[in-house]
Amino acid sequence: MPETTAVAEDRDESQITGKSIRLEGVTKRYPGQSTPAVDGVTLEIPAGQVVMLVGPSGCGKTTTLKMINRLIEPTEGRIVLGDEDVTAIDGDQLRRRIGYVIQAGGLFPHMTVAQNIAIVPKMLGWDAQRIADRTTELLDLVSLDPDTYRDRYPKELSGGQQQRVGVARALAADPPVLLMDEPFGAVDPITRQRLQDELIRIQQELRKTIVIVTHDFDEAVKLGDWIVVFREGAQIVQYDTPERILAEPADEFVESFIGSGAGIKQLALQRVRDVDLKEAITARPGDDAAEVLAKVEKAGHGHVVVLDERDRPLSWPSRRALSRMATIPAEADERTPVIGSGATLNDALDEMLVSNAGAALVTGRRGAFAGVITIEEVMDAIRAVRASASDDLADAPVGTNAGSDDGTGDEVAQDG
Ligand SMILES: Nc1ncnc2c1ncn2[C@@H]1O[C@H](COP(=O)(O)OP(=O)(O)OP(=O)(O)O)[C@@H](O)[C@H]1O
Ligand SMILES: [Mg+2]
Repeated sequence: MPETTAVAEDRDESQITGKSIRLEGVTKRYPGQSTPAVDGVTLEIPAGQVVMLVGPSGCGKTTTLKMINRLIEPTEGRIVLGDEDVTAIDGDQLRRRIGYVIQAGGLFPHMTVAQNIAIVPKMLGWDAQRIADRTTELLDLVSLDPDTYRDRYPKELSGGQQQRVGVARALAADPPVLLMDEPFGAVDPITRQRLQDELIRIQQELRKTIVIVTHDFDEAVKLGDWIVVFREGAQIVQYDTPERILAEPADEFVESFIGSGAGIKQLALQRVRDVDLKEAITARPGDDAAEVLAKVEKAGHGHVVVLDERDRPLSWPSRRALSRMATIPAEADERTPVIGSGATLNDALDEMLVSNAGAALVTGRRGAFAGVITIEEVMDAIRAVRASASDDLADAPVGTNAGSDDGTGDEVAQDG
């Protein structure tokens, strides 16, 4: 299998594979309901960005999301994908161009992992070899070993693994847009944190346009380039960056939604990649343990990082452990604290505390080892967090409701 060549981490706009989404005066009235579930929403979702939809239960988040891929037909308004008005095109065709992930992956139980992933490529008429190659590539992307998992059924997977397959399936035909409805709602907190980190890493690579519904404001802060705060009827209360929403909540409703400790939550904005990482001595399975130990001692380090053939961490033996080995083992040690470079410092801290290690291994593209982060750096960075959000951020994209009392919906009404 060919190794993917490393691409520069710094990506310019030309690397964006997502398309912008525009909702123009979109309304949904369910039959028999006196008030619309979604009331004249105008919302601009920039290409290649992650936009989080938050708000109380029943405020219209899911309805808004499902109108983007027309699983729910809007009663009024227009939906524009890139430059194309998709309001009236065939819904099935549209959904092949928009990935969709729901809670617990939404996998078909009677199909294997590979069959689940192949659904859209098959509909698009890809040949068997291309589908098989793509499946391998996607399982790799979501950190599931293709040989182990491709022929399993969903019930033979953990919740987190099912969710990963759900993401792989949604990405199968490389759609420009990914919609996710509470994708991490059904997993335990540690798994949720890992899946979030993984999504951040995948997005650094793919630069899709991603819209995510969540109940969890902390998740919105962590994953979102932008957050939309809705109230009933999908009324947009605030649409801004996490930084600015935390620093300047539009009103008491948003404040109450953020909950207490907005200052603390700003810590969640700091990423592992913003901190200087320490270098480490690395070794490969099969290396002579005495030679490795000599190198570790010479460098004055306490541990060696054992990497697999793709530079992913396998284990992190101490000098003591090394002194008892003849050769470096090939087994992965589940207790090794590993964290993605997109993870927040809060998460790094959690991982260190859970593993008792006072440090964690940081991975970058495709899970390759990037360096070590220690508890001292995390503490320093946390001390250095300033409470003030910078105001030289990009202008916020448009988000309004037609018929809201400030009259900003006027130009939309004329369009339709
Ligand atoms: N098929 C339907 N028929 C009638 N009313 C519906 C239907 N689906 C949703 N609704 C109503 O529309 C409103 C918005 O629902 P929606 O599912 O979009 O909310 P939500 O913000 O996703 O809520 P939650 O956070 O609980 O998932 C709610 O009042 C709901 O009861
Ligand atoms: Mg919902």
